[in-house]
Amino acid sequence: MRRPIIAGNWKMNKTISEALGLVNEIKEEANKTDVEVVVCCPFTVISEVKKAIEGSKVKLGAQNMHWEDEGAFTGEISANMLKDLGVDYVIIGHSERRQYFNETDEIVNKKVIKAIEKGLNPIVCVGETLDEREKNRTFDVVKEQTLAAFRDVSNDGMKDVVIAYEPIWAIGTGKTASSQDANEVIAYIRSLLENKYGIEISEEVRIQYGGSVKPSNATEIMNETDIDGALVGGASLKAEEFLEIVNF
Ligand code: PGA
Repeated sequence: MRRPIIAGNWKMNKTISEALGLVNEIKEEANKTDVEVVVCCPFTVISEVKKAIEGSKVKLGAQNMHWEDEGAFTGEISANMLKDLGVDYVIIGHSERRQYFNETDEIVNKKVIKAIEKGLNPIVCVGETLDEREKNRTFDVVKEQTLAAFRDVSNDGMKDVVIAYEPIWAIGTGKTASSQDANEVIAYIRSLLENKYGIEISEEVRIQYGGSVKPSNATEIMNETDIDGALVGGASLKAEEFLEIVNF
């Protein structure tokens, strides 16, 4: 049985006081559920959020990292720095990073390898654009991105990985993939893992859906057989909405 994992991706939102307000509302409720609850915060609030969630079941996530250990990379944050802050998860290859910051599949791969090496759990995002979906290229694109992201990642390394299938056209748009469509793509990603890593790993890796997940569609999405969780953007910024999703 894969343990469901619901992660909030706060993106570029929340000052320290706002972040603390949100996480303090989330943590008690999160203690009552068996669902794994993660908050992926901006770097600037991580250390304060870490203190606030001390003793609770909420896990700490970041939204990005660099693939080098250290050096002349102005403005970047390393895996060591995240480990030092007590971070558990790091989102890698979010479509906004791919789209606005030119992250390629190769960069995503380097980051995934570094995260695993340093003992961070990467939440690796894949997903097609609207144009690709309309051209029936969804499965090809997802295959390309998935195989590229995990190039040279061993069976052992895969045990730390979470994958998030996020169709780009569903992110922040209010449009969601139908839960059946999302499940079909996610089952396909699992079959790719099975081909490469065998049945045991493919049955173990958790695969989330992301893209306009909200209280009104969370139950349906989470009831699908292959969907193990959600990566939640907009609806993770309000405690009430996020908790309704956590308690799907
Ligand atoms: P959304 O974002 O829930 O606001 O669509 C999801 C994401 O980008 O991870």
